[in-house]
Amino acid sequence: MSQGIITASYIGASILFILALGGLSNQETARRGNLYGMIGMAIALVATISGVTGNMVFLLVALLIGSSIGLILAKRIAMTQMPELVASLHSLVGLAAVLVGYASFMDPESHFSGVELTIHNVEIYLGVLIGAVTFSGSIIAFGKLSGKIGGNAMLLPARHWLNLGLLIISIWLCGSFVEESAAGGGMMPLLIMTGIALLFGIHMVMAIGGADMPVVVSMLNSYSGWAAAATGFMLSNDLLIVTGALVGSSGAILSYIMCRAMNRKFIAVIAGGFGTTTGGGASSASAEEQGEVVVLQAPEVANLLAESKEVMIIPGYGMAVAQAQHIVCEITKTLRAKKINVRFGIHPVAGRMPGHMNVLLAEAKVPYDIVYEMDEINDDFPDIDVSIVIGANDIVNPSAQTDPDSPIAGMPVMEPWKGKTTIVLKRGMATGYAGVQNPLFFKENTRMLFGDARASLDEVFKNL
Ligand code: TAP
Repeated sequence: MSQGIITASYIGASILFILALGGLSNQETARRGNLYGMIGMAIALVATISGVTGNMVFLLVALLIGSSIGLILAKRIAMTQMPELVASLHSLVGLAAVLVGYASFMDPESHFSGVELTIHNVEIYLGVLIGAVTFSGSIIAFGKLSGKIGGNAMLLPARHWLNLGLLIISIWLCGSFVEESAAGGGMMPLLIMTGIALLFGIHMVMAIGGADMPVVVSMLNSYSGWAAAATGFMLSNDLLIVTGALVGSSGAILSYIMCRAMNRKFIAVIAGGFGTTTGGGASSASAEEQGEVVVLQAPEVANLLAESKEVMIIPGYGMAVAQAQHIVCEITKTLRAKKINVRFGIHPVAGRMPGHMNVLLAEAKVPYDIVYEMDEINDDFPDIDVSIVIGANDIVNPSAQTDPDSPIAGMPVMEPWKGKTTIVLKRGMATGYAGVQNPLFFKENTRMLFGDARASLDEVFKNL
């Protein structure tokens, strides 16, 4: 393929990636957005491979291994494990940036000199730095999300000073790396900085508490984009620079949006430990039960629903675990056929990843026009006859508004308690992701329907 065609393909792929991001911002266009992304990536791969002059066999074998692993993972991973998968994939982007950085540094065929050499070495240094932070940070995020590492924030004394110290040492080492590499050396400062960056990534993510993990994942998404952009500079690959910058900036915007949704200050989340005043996550007292709950059976729930005019469904992580979205859709159809106004209220961090609930509801073919964002419907609860909370907990926890010591203090929540009756579907009295008990369950107008959400809703449907 001629260089001109490769450049045109890169421009085409970049446009498709931008269209993909635009499409993903709305559930009605998300499928198309995904398709654009896939076509863009296919074009990018073909164009890049055709421009390679070295040993094709290595490249094809690597491609085969990589795509087989990707295929197997995508087939095996459950929807609820997606954030872990994303975190582990980010770690690979980080590792790739580190390896490309070292390879560029040691490349015997590199012909840079003077200012160009300095710029190239700074690119290498930054690429390795961002890559190493992304790599180790993503591995810790993977460990926390999959429960292999405890979700509590690890807050070392003087941790901010420690971070600042590591940053200053890294900047100082950059100077000596550039200086030594001009004289043919530089490996030692690069190695020391890599070690520091790896430690920094571990420390940064360890200091972030469970409830803030979604922000960390999208922040690492952003870092992986900048690491890819840095790799693009090292390899002089324009498409990698553009794509990396797109991922880097969209990840940063998503982190900001999520921080706003959780009422967290971005810097405070990144600095770690925000909202974990005890230093050990939720205190055991906050996980204790706070009175008696009123339990209903499925036929009574069916009656309550059938007699109401306005129903709000609030899905959470438990709906994903139970895979209850299809039966939820059937119940919705039945209620709407009875002229009952059914709406869905979606909290921005319901479930375990951005858009988690929207994806499940779209899969079950729930009409988009009855699915609302939290901000759009939170004021409507006083008019609601029955709210059904399906496997949600933290996102409907009133203590976020009333208990300043709660790990989720300040996080905006859905307010079903302002309606006539709230029915909560869950298996027992276990806490949610943030590990805090929920006063909603003990309120006068709350009823509990215990059991796996899907089994409970099957029963409710039969009785409807
Ligand atoms: P959670 O607070 O995690 O609560 C889920 C509830 O579902 C649990 O209390 C659990 O209680 C119940 N449950 C689990 N399996 C069930 C099943 N098979 N049937 C019925 N109930 C079941 O979920 P949420 O309200 O959606 O809040 C999300 C939380 O995750 C927030 O704290 C958020 O910050 C965090 N988070 C979000 C994301 C994103 S981006 N969405 C990513 C990572 C973390 P039982 O065990 O008693 O049944």
